[in-house]
Amino acid sequence: MPIPAVPTESFLMGLPKAELHLHVEGTLEPDLKLELAAKNNIELDQKTIEEVEASYQFNDLSSFLAVYYPAMNVLQTEDDFYALAMAYFRRAAENGVKRTEMFFDPQAHTTRGVPFADVVNGYYRATQDAADLGISAELIMCFLRDMSAESAAEHLEMSVPFADKILGLGLDSDERDNPPAKFAEVFARGRELGYKLTMHCDIDQVGSIENIRQVIEDVQVDRIDHGTNIVENPELVAIVKEKGLGLTCCPVSNSFVTEDMKATEITALLREGVKVTLNSDDPAYFGGYIGKNYVDYAAKSGVSTEEMIQIAKNSFDVCWISDEEKAKYFAAIDEYIASFEG
Ligand code: ADE
Ligand code: ZN
Repeated sequence: MPIPAVPTESFLMGLPKAELHLHVEGTLEPDLKLELAAKNNIELDQKTIEEVEASYQFNDLSSFLAVYYPAMNVLQTEDDFYALAMAYFRRAAENGVKRTEMFFDPQAHTTRGVPFADVVNGYYRATQDAADLGISAELIMCFLRDMSAESAAEHLEMSVPFADKILGLGLDSDERDNPPAKFAEVFARGRELGYKLTMHCDIDQVGSIENIRQVIEDVQVDRIDHGTNIVENPELVAIVKEKGLGLTCCPVSNSFVTEDMKATEITALLREGVKVTLNSDDPAYFGGYIGKNYVDYAAKSGVSTEEMIQIAKNSFDVCWISDEEKAKYFAAIDEYIASFEG
């Protein structure tokens, strides 16, 4: 049986893929939230899974973040961070994920009095155990852009003794009035320390295009998170193509924080030859892991199975790994396709 002409759910779920835009704190499912709250004696306003789900009400980035950060209070110990990441890896494995370079937000924890070391060590231990699930995982430390550049710089220095456990640096949280340039110096120091660099350029922000320009030209990132608005600017599109920069798009997340999943824009970039990838962002909040992002995007865009395979190939192509490792993942995709041809 050949690969399906129209990409089916089962084909897309099993397709080997990398997840490169995943906030591990955004994988906190209601059941784990309740379990950790009970263990750590934390009073929650919600007592049942249904009540937690009902509290997930938002229609833009700011209202989402207002729900998102307080929920993290249930994460207290190194084991809690470990448990959170392991729960994600189990879901990721079911979604065909073979490699993930995933975000964590240390400032969301240190500002609550949780030691930096507990956060990094808990997550790092989970990345090592992810290998048992067939997943290679590494960490990207994000700075909260609505906090000061000084706080980011302090956390960057805190990370130095843990540098072998952290692959890269990212920038997330509320983009409004917090352009990439605010963090240019911190990221330049991060580059000197050997970290790879990426930054969020969220969807439909005030100044989206100028912010995308800053991350490419001023900060000189190695990848762009979201960045979908670049489709409005052919000159910037030409630059990302020339540099081979990956874009980590998140269709299901887009449909929560804006009016639609931006499938048309993602497809235009894909067909232009930009290395777009599909990812889940904060799957516990947006109701879908990476497989659902592949499935919903394919259904909405009407792209071909070959184009979905191209997206999966892109996801490994823009990983921060060696060419040899990339070749191994491309071969896994080829094998998967061959298994349909029997
Ligand atoms: N933190 C978690 N998810 C985010 C997103 N989609 N944008 C910015 N910051 C985030
Ligand atoms: Zn994100």
